[in-house]
Amino acid sequence: MKALVLAGGSGTRLRPFSYSMPKQLIPIANTPVLEYVLRNILDLGVSEVGVIVGDRAQEIQEALGDGSRFGARLTYLRQEAPLGLAHTVAVARDFLGDDDFVMYLGDNMLPEGIAAIAEEFATHRPAAHVVVYKVPDPRAFGVAELGPAGEVRRLVEKPQHPRSDLALMGVYFFTAAIHEAVRSIEPSARGELEITDAIQWLVSTGADVRAGRYEGYWKDTGNVEDVLECNRYVLDGLRPAVRGAVDDASVLVGPVVVEEGARVVRSRIEGPVIIGAGTVVEDSHIGPHTSIGRACAVTGSRLEYSIALDGASVTGVQGLRSSVIGRSASVGTSGQSADRYRLVVGDHTRVEVAA
Ligand code: TTP
Repeated sequence: MKALVLAGGSGTRLRPFSYSMPKQLIPIANTPVLEYVLRNILDLGVSEVGVIVGDRAQEIQEALGDGSRFGARLTYLRQEAPLGLAHTVAVARDFLGDDDFVMYLGDNMLPEGIAAIAEEFATHRPAAHVVVYKVPDPRAFGVAELGPAGEVRRLVEKPQHPRSDLALMGVYFFTAAIHEAVRSIEPSARGELEITDAIQWLVSTGADVRAGRYEGYWKDTGNVEDVLECNRYVLDGLRPAVRGAVDDASVLVGPVVVEEGARVVRSRIEGPVIIGAGTVVEDSHIGPHTSIGRACAVTGSRLEYSIALDGASVTGVQGLRSSVIGRSASVGTSGQSADRYRLVVGDHTRVEVAA
């Protein structure tokens, strides 16, 4: 068994962050999403991993290296343009050979792992095994219609009028039968080779295609709201550890991680909170459900349910909530009167102030 991790794509929904970093490296509890993905794959005993990369190949290679740090052997596979999930299977054709493989979207978070899914696949070894998750509004997803024994009857990509509420998650198990399917389909109306079309081709030719329900937590971290929500979920499992310095005038409540070289001064940290290496927090109140990256500075501020990426600074701002602050970005006060704001805002950035 091999694995194919998809870390290309355009990431338009995660702008502005995806302008300067591949979205698969966005940190959840200060760890890039791709590291969670790799760990889940390694937990299956699978170590041969192909990583699909696009324009942002370099940053991904810098972050994961050859995989030896995780016990994996990584092969980077360049996709010239994001031409669809099924296109990545074609790009990886030589790497995959005729082995079974798990295809895993590099922005999908499943903190409880995928061992149960792998077992279901191994039990029946169908041509394709997809995983479905009940969602309130399936129109943004691939949607599966199932028969009574969990067999897939029909798959439709982003239907206007969904006939079921079962969305396809970003983890798929395939045998080599998928390659003929990928060769047999045409690009969709949006110009992509859709994996749903390839699996639907298998269904139409009478191949065994099954679906399992996923009972654990699942989030596609493709937009800011879902990144924050996923960060909350993962932080809820945080184990406290103080490796940095916390002065006597500070109070830590609940699970708090203070990494090496970080300093907490005259502050209240209300866990779950993680504070990255080399960060300084002074005269502030942070948390709950907040991740502060490395080498950040938070001074005289109140921050909850938020994420600050490496090198960010927040100074003198009291009411920050549901906020994501980019790498080396600074948020502060202008010294002007209370109803004036000064903003230097990049492309596709979102600012919300009190009404
Ligand atoms: P998506 O989130 O569906 O696509 P996207 O990255 O283009 O994002 P957006 O809709 O915000 O523009 O992709 C799911 C995962 O698969 C993600 O990790 C990117 C990856 N991917 C590829 O590697 N190649 C591709 O051709 C596509 C479409 C996605």
